[in-house]
Amino acid sequence: MDLDLKDRTFLVTAASRGLGFSVAKALVNEGAEVIICGRNEESLKKATSSLGELAEYYVADLSKKEDVQSLVKKIATNILLLDGLFVNAGGPPPGTFSKLTDDDWRKAFDLTLMSAVWLTRETIPLLKMSDSSSILFSTSVSVKQPIDNLLLSNAIRPAVIGMMRTLATELAPDYIRVNAICPGYIQTERVDELLSASESAEENITVKIPLKRIGKPDEFGPVAAFLMSPVSSYIHGALLLVDGGLYQGMM
Ligand SMILES: NC(=O)c1ccc[n+]([C@@H]2O[C@H](COP(=O)([O-])OP(=O)(O)OC[C@H]3O[C@@H](n4cnc5c(N)ncnc54)[C@H](OP(=O)(O)O)[C@@H]3O)[C@@H](O)[C@H]2O)c1
Repeated sequence: MDLDLKDRTFLVTAASRGLGFSVAKALVNEGAEVIICGRNEESLKKATSSLGELAEYYVADLSKKEDVQSLVKKIATNILLLDGLFVNAGGPPPGTFSKLTDDDWRKAFDLTLMSAVWLTRETIPLLKMSDSSSILFSTSVSVKQPIDNLLLSNAIRPAVIGMMRTLATELAPDYIRVNAICPGYIQTERVDELLSASESAEENITVKIPLKRIGKPDEFGPVAAFLMSPVSSYIHGALLLVDGGLYQGMM
């Protein structure tokens, strides 16, 4: 299937590795140009050189409003439009209610919700200029079912879904589609860290997944590319789980 992504331009945030990188790779494989960002310049250099000449990078900390504003300002000096925005950021730290401080809550709020607000606000003028644009918010299966010891993710990510569903109505007149993608467990450095916590960590997770394994980044990126492509032109306000069947609720 031709996803009609050739010569289209996408901003994929937090993409020097992990899920963001898998999305950038899938888009480049389809002939799209990608702009990626992250905090560490060395990692970004490595990522863009592996993605090839269709990729470029900017350094930005998405938990800081001024960084997001300056990121999009710099992008806008070089391009006239964006065909898609993949909203992704680092994960909030683990922890239970009794351990988390007000400062942990405020930082997670900025990193997980406000980064999505700032990125959306700043890129709307560029997205409006495309004949087929969309925003894809990457969240987590935690928006459907809480994950133990990940209180900040469980509490704050559902707000991103609330925003996405509302934007589906508010941005429709500008022909900007919005959707969400919710990974379960995909093998990235973040998940590797989680699995290294104990010998039984992987088994404790996979036993709950009907497909009985952790997903691979290449099983995530192409799905996101599809959702942001013109081929998905009637998918709007939707939430798609990529979790091997982990979430078993009816809705
Ligand atoms: N992997 C999974 O199975 C899974 C499942 C559900 C949800 N998630 C969520 O999806 C997101 C990505 O996860 P991942 O597994 O891909 O993690 P990862 O492998 O640790 O990669 C994180 C990426 O985000 C960048 N990043 C981190 N904090 C940032 C910030 N403040 N500003 C800009 N870039 C930042 C990192 O680069 P720098 O460190 O250089 O900034 C890196 O490129 C996280 O929010 C995670 O909680 C992941």
